[in-house]
Amino acid sequence: MTSAKKILCIGAGYVGGPTMAMIASKCPRYRVTVVDIDPERIAAWNSEELPIYEPGLDQLVAAARGRNLFFSTDIEAGIRENDIIFVSVNTPTKAFGLGAGMAADLQYWEKTARQILAFSESSKIVIEKSTLPVKTALAMERILNSRANGVFFDVLSNPEFLAEGTAVRDLEQPDRILIGSRETENGLKARETLAEIYANWVPREKIITSNIWSSELSKLVANAFLAQRISSINAVSALCEKAEADVTEVARAVGMDSRIGAKFLNASIGFGGSCFKKDILNLVYLCRNYGLEEVADYWESVVKINDYQQERFIRNMLGAMFNTLAGKRICLWGFAFKANTSDTRESPAIFVTRRLLEERAEVVVSDPKALKNARMDLAGAAGRISYVEDPERAAEGCHAIALLTEWDLYRHLDLRKIFKTMEKPAFIFDGRNLLDHRRCFDIGFNVYPLGKPPLTHF
Ligand code: NAD
Ligand code: UGA
Repeated sequence: MTSAKKILCIGAGYVGGPTMAMIASKCPRYRVTVVDIDPERIAAWNSEELPIYEPGLDQLVAAARGRNLFFSTDIEAGIRENDIIFVSVNTPTKAFGLGAGMAADLQYWEKTARQILAFSESSKIVIEKSTLPVKTALAMERILNSRANGVFFDVLSNPEFLAEGTAVRDLEQPDRILIGSRETENGLKARETLAEIYANWVPREKIITSNIWSSELSKLVANAFLAQRISSINAVSALCEKAEADVTEVARAVGMDSRIGAKFLNASIGFGGSCFKKDILNLVYLCRNYGLEEVADYWESVVKINDYQQERFIRNMLGAMFNTLAGKRICLWGFAFKANTSDTRESPAIFVTRRLLEERAEVVVSDPKALKNARMDLAGAAGRISYVEDPERAAEGCHAIALLTEWDLYRHLDLRKIFKTMEKPAFIFDGRNLLDHRRCFDIGFNVYPLGKPPLTHF
C-alpha cells in the first residue's frame, strides 16, 4: 500500500468532481479536497442533488464524502494544506481579442497558478488536468517558480480522457493514464508520485509516461481524431442520401476492418459537447501560429463538416415539410449533447432550436435530464418555445418530431399512440438513427433518417 497523500483539486466541474470522487473511493487512506470559486456548485456537491448528472456518480460521491472526500470554497486553505494539486478549471475558447473564436482562454488557468503561488508555504506537485495548448506547462512553471523563497513546484501534465455519460466507468477502467513530466530528476520523481496514486486501481501497464509536451499535445490530438471520425461518417451520410446507400451498412462494412475499428462511426446530427470543437479550434490555432497552414486547414475541416451536418439537417426538414416551417409545431426529443448526461454545452439541439425559431416554427423541447440547462441556453431566444419532459406529451399536436439525443427511452415509446395525437402528415427526423424506421413508416409517419433513403407516404 502506498503512503497517505493529501490531494487538492481546483475546479469542481465535470472533470474535477468525478475524478476526485474516484480517487477518494479507490484510495481510502488519501484525503481528497475539491475547491471551486463557485459557492453554488460546491453547495450542490455537498447536497443530495449533485451539480451534474452522471450514471453511478451519486453512489460514488455518497460513499466517500465526509470520509476522505471534501468539497469546499476555501481555496487558500486548500492550497496551504495539500502537497499534490490537480488543476481542473475550465479552458473555453477565447471570446475576445487576439485569437478570439479559436485560441484557448487561459485566464482561469493563469489565475489558478497565481493563487497557488500566493498561498503555498511548502513545495508542491501541480498537475494539469484541464485540456491545454501545448507548452502551457512552461508558462505555469515560469509563474510558479518566479519567487526565490525556497518553495518549489513540479508541473505535470495528466490529461483526462473520460467521456460524459460514462465518466464513472471511464475513470474506473481507463484505456490509459497519461503522465507527462520534465525528464529531470525532480520531474521523474513527481511523475512516479502521481503514478502511485493511479496504481491503486489501474494496472501499471496502462499508466504511460511521456515528455510533458507530448502529453499536452496527445490530449488535443485524441479529441481531434475522435471528432474526425464523426465528421468522416457524417460526410459519408450526405453522400449516402444522394446515392441511395445506407450509412449504417457502410459504417458496419468499413468498421469491421480491424485497422479502422467499429467505434465512433455513428452518423449523427453532429458532435456537441464542451470539448471537441474547442479543442480542435485550439489545435488549428496552434498550427497557424507555427505557420502550418495546410495542417490547420485539415483539422479545421472537421469542424466545418460538423457545422454543415447541422445545417443540412434543418434544410432536410424544410425540404420535406413543403419548404415552410412557419407556424408549425416541432417537437425535439432530446436536448443534451449525448445520452446519459444533463450537459447541453455545444449541443446541436441549441443550433437546431435557433434555426427552427428563425423559420418561425414553434418548438417543444423535451429531455429527461437536460431541461434545466436547455432553459438557460435558450433564455432570450425570440420565438415560441415550451418545455415538456414527457416525450409523448411533448409530441401532442406537433407536425414533426426531431430526435436529437440518443436517449434509450425513445426506443420504447408507444409510437402508434403518439402518431394519433399529432398533426398529419406527421414527420419524424431521426438525427441519431435510433428508431425502427420501417415500423415508424408502417404506423403512418413520414420518416427521414440520416444517411438513408427516406420512407414517405407521398
Ligand atoms: P467545468 O466548467 O464543468 O468546471 C470548471 C470549474 O472550474 C468550474 O466549476 C469553475 O467555477 C471552476 N474555476 C474556474 N476558475 C477557478 C479558480 N480560479 N479557482 C477555483 N475554481 C475555478 O469544466 P469541465 O468540463 O470540468 O472541464 C475542465 C477541463 O477539463 C477543461 O479544460 C476541459 O477541456 C477538460 N476536460 C473536460 C472533459 C469533460 O467531459 N467535460 C473531459 C476531459 C477533459
Ligand atoms: C469526448 C471524448 O470522447 C473524451 O475522451 C474526452 O475526454 C472528452 O471529449 C473531453 O475532452 O471533453 P464527450 O464529449 O463527453 O467525450 O462525449 P463523446 O462520447 O466523445 O461524444 C461527443 C459527441 O460526439 C456527442 O455529441 C456524441 O453524440 C457525438 N458522437 C459520438 C457521434 O455523433 N457519433 C459517434 O459515433 C460518437
